[in-house]
Amino acid sequence: MAEEVPGRIRKFKIDDINEIVEIEEQAFPKTPYSKEAFLSYANSFPDSFVVIETGKDILGYIIFDMSGHIHSTAVKPAYRRKGFGKMLFMHALKCAKERLWLEVRSKNIGAIRFYKKLGMKIVGKIPNYYETDDALIMVLRQREEPDAHK
Ligand SMILES: CC(C)(COP(=O)(O)OP(=O)(O)OC[C@H]1O[C@@H](n2cnc3c(N)ncnc32)[C@H](O)[C@@H]1OP(=O)(O)O)[C@@H](O)C(=O)NCCC(=O)NCCS
Repeated sequence: MAEEVPGRIRKFKIDDINEIVEIEEQAFPKTPYSKEAFLSYANSFPDSFVVIETGKDILGYIIFDMSGHIHSTAVKPAYRRKGFGKMLFMHALKCAKERLWLEVRSKNIGAIRFYKKLGMKIVGKIPNYYETDDALIMVLRQREEPDAHK
């Protein structure tokens, strides 16, 4: 059983790559991103590919961009339901200027519940976006459009 640990968020470093790939393969056993894909993300988003760690182990990661698009996020199975996914999400929310949005497999019920709990809403669906599933588009807007009458 995972011990109770505080998490610290920091930017991805190249030495993290094997741990990230391991977390990815546990989270998405059928369709994991490759090591090369993560290295490409690190190159494209050096400030917004972040990990949460204990000081010893990496517990999870999130990759987002400045449009607020979450490209991927995962937490190690033994450390789920302890608030680490939420900490990563809140970090992205703080950095993104206006909104967070993502595509999620329509069959990924756990992740959809997680995102709904954090305030995201389903705003669309892309049929057959994945080989064997549809994608739901989920969005969280930081604030409503300014009211012209105020
Ligand atoms: C989705 C994921 C990142 C959530 O990480 P986490 O650290 O377990 O999430 P948190 O502990 O911060 O959860 C916050 C709240 O979200 C909700 N939630 C999280 N996971 C849930 C699940 N599987 N089912 C229902 N609700 C869930 C709960 O309300 C939870 O609060 P609670 O535990 O006090 O009830 C994690 O389950 C994961 O890595 N899944 C596999 C990869 C994946 O599907 N990524 C998303 C792809 S788009």
